Amino acid sequence: MSADFKNELAALRRRGLYRSLRRVEGEPGPTLRLDGREALNFSSNNYLGLASHPAVKKAAQEAIDRYGLGAGASRLISGNLALDEELEEKIARLKGAEAALVFNSGYQANLGIIPALAGEGDAIFSDALNHASIIDGCRLSRAKTVVYPHCDTAALEDALQKAPAAGRKLIVTETLFSMDGDEAPLAEIVELAERHGALTMVDEAHATGVFGPNGAGVAAKLGLGGRVTVQMGTLGKALGGFGAYAAGSKELRELLINKSRSFIFTTSLPPPVLAAASAAIDLLYQEPQRRLALWHNIRALKEGLKGLGFSTGKSESQILPLVLGDAEKCMAFSERLLEKGVFAQGIRPPTVPEGSSRLRITLMATHTHEHLHQALKAFEEIKSEI
Ligand SMILES: Cc1ncc(COP(=O)(O)O)c(C=O)c1O
Repeated sequence: MSADFKNELAALRRRGLYRSLRRVEGEPGPTLRLDGREALNFSSNNYLGLASHPAVKKAAQEAIDRYGLGAGASRLISGNLALDEELEEKIARLKGAEAALVFNSGYQANLGIIPALAGEGDAIFSDALNHASIIDGCRLSRAKTVVYPHCDTAALEDALQKAPAAGRKLIVTETLFSMDGDEAPLAEIVELAERHGALTMVDEAHATGVFGPNGAGVAAKLGLGGRVTVQMGTLGKALGGFGAYAAGSKELRELLINKSRSFIFTTSLPPPVLAAASAAIDLLYQEPQRRLALWHNIRALKEGLKGLGFSTGKSESQILPLVLGDAEKCMAFSERLLEKGVFAQGIRPPTVPEGSSRLRITLMATHTHEHLHQALKAFEEIKSEI
């Protein structure tokens, strides 16, 4: 058996798809200690730097002192803490929704929400570049899943027209795509959904905290929050903590409490995590300068990379993909960058489609001008080497 595993691992290595863990010490800031050496961090989703914000840390520490570490039970048993409900009210207010429900992670949220909304006899329409958690949610649902080409609303409309009249229709899309940093054509998608009687679910994992009024996300930016069935997002990226949510109508919340297996059959989030997320949401209102600093950095790095002849595709965000194609070439580029003290993770299949391996560069509000300058210098040197 163990020989089998060895062969499998060797095959992954041969295809340039072998993965291994890097050891991180210290906080996930703009610099970190990675495998024992200092590096600039261009691979974190801690976009606003809230993971180590003093108010977030204090809220978590105080919650441990008052409530202890663990919730002790699932939400439907004795784990529905006041902290859960306070956080849900804050999320609903941020999103302009009637209600919200907290999940233990974005992965679990997508696994729980999608099968609660669509099942056998229903049809799901899912963007080709949707996150693995959405793909897995669709698989679990047993609904017929139609994958439409990335952001292609003509293909989506065609698929909606061809769907059987019976059964529910659900369109699922990320609003800001995690690997390409581009935005979904949400206004058109919502219009199509309304015309074809479909529900819409948006995954705002990477848009929350960055886009829209007070960082409420892309749906809020476009004034579409009220026309989308579910606004899903995470607490572990720009909000700097851990967990996730679904925001929408009161009935949606009730339905998810009753049907989402990944909500029902798991221990509630720990008090310090809930309190930290609440504090992070307060900071979205109190410190808008963080969003401004992030957007300043996005413009500066994008311009700098363009000046060096690198394309960042259709990215309009803090996620800048440098598509290099071949997986091995991409990982070699990433390693060379790390040797120069810059960490930008190479992303390969199956996370991205075959032939589109890339460096996924992510920016933070806390990167300084000097950090960007150092990174650009490293990119320039490696470019001339290869
Ligand atoms: C678009 C998208 N949805 C969901 C998730 C899962 O979120 P979490 O990390 O909270 O499980 C991610 C995380 O990588 C993501 O990028």
